[in-house]
Amino acid sequence: MIILGIETSCDETSVSIIKASSDRIEVLSNIVSSQIKLHSEWGGVVPNLAAREHLKNISPVLKRALTCSKKNIKDIDLISVTKGPGLMPALLIGTSFAKTISYIWEKPLIGIHHIEGHIYANFIDSKLSARSLTKKNTVTIYKGRGSRIKFPILCLVVSGGHTQLILMKDHLQYKIIGETQDDAAGEAFDKVARILGLGYPGGPAISAEAEKSNRQISDLPLRQDSGEASKIQISLPRPMINSGDFNFSFSGLKTAVLYKTKKMSLSQISNLKSQICREFQQAVIDVLICKTVNAAEKYNPETIILAGGVSANKELRKQMDSAIKDNLPHSKFKIPNSEFSLDNAAMIAAASYFRWKNMSEKQKKDSLKNWKTLQTEAGLKLS
Ligand code: KG4
Ligand code: ZN
Repeated sequence: MIILGIETSCDETSVSIIKASSDRIEVLSNIVSSQIKLHSEWGGVVPNLAAREHLKNISPVLKRALTCSKKNIKDIDLISVTKGPGLMPALLIGTSFAKTISYIWEKPLIGIHHIEGHIYANFIDSKLSARSLTKKNTVTIYKGRGSRIKFPILCLVVSGGHTQLILMKDHLQYKIIGETQDDAAGEAFDKVARILGLGYPGGPAISAEAEKSNRQISDLPLRQDSGEASKIQISLPRPMINSGDFNFSFSGLKTAVLYKTKKMSLSQISNLKSQICREFQQAVIDVLICKTVNAAEKYNPETIILAGGVSANKELRKQMDSAIKDNLPHSKFKIPNSEFSLDNAAMIAAASYFRWKNMSEKQKKDSLKNWKTLQTEAGLKLS
């Protein structure tokens, strides 16, 4: 079946067309119009500005998604949209738009939980058969194929708003076995980046700075040249690493960075920036890996997957892969292609395929009326 997905929960306007069947999910187009440049001026996402941009972009993004997929309106069997969680003004643009086209085109409509979308990004084949940049780094087209994943799945969700360990015995069955007690991992990346003056979004900026520090460590002359800074060792806590449960806490880690930098001069901060980033990133990774391995040892999953924006972090991917190979040789590790780690509509369409398959004939028929009943919920819980 051909599914049109829509995602506007935060600062990416995205529309995707996928072709889904029981053995593969093919992405025919996945257009992402990013607002990062606009929000970076404010140091974070401004909800009303995001909504205004979504409103401006959503129609051209839809048109491009249809054109690139070489499909027509009549080919679309189902429309799906992120109904929450997220920023209310931003979500409302996507859901109102989806309701309008569902009503006018007379197509069924399903609302999808944003995190469910991130999880189902793993069900899109990561081998892209085509990729091209069509509009100054803001619009990207992808093509990919589907792949099989065995249950039970242990999923580590790490995004800007969520950090959760979720056990899935089957499709669409979620048991949250641990979650953050305060900040999400991505939120901590963003806040620490702000403390260090690295701008928004923090994750990619911290990861790039941390890489610089790795290079300096393996390059002795450079290290000697950095003078005083090279003598200082930055060490940060690994919060809740020995708590005995699968919960997380990242707000204290961010505060530890704040207190350390408060005692430093501006030039010291500047000299030590990459070392702080490296240690901060490693602290987050150590906790994420330790909790995931402990949970996997308890629940014996066939597959361990990563989901959410922080899963784009190269060090996390690499270190999680080797920790799983070393400690859990019977579990397979799966990560979405990094383009599908960040917010995109292909993941929403992919999740909706599994929702659709699980629906009775009556529920499928009723979803034609969702243009008037679908609710948008900023604090929607995964169920
Ligand atoms: O899933 P996502 O795109 O949006 C939400 O659902 O929240 O995740 C965004 C988060 C941001 O906090 C961003 O800083 C983080 O993912 N992120 C990263 C990386 N790329 C994005 N964090 C660490 N390393 C990265 N490479
Ligand atoms: Zn997201």
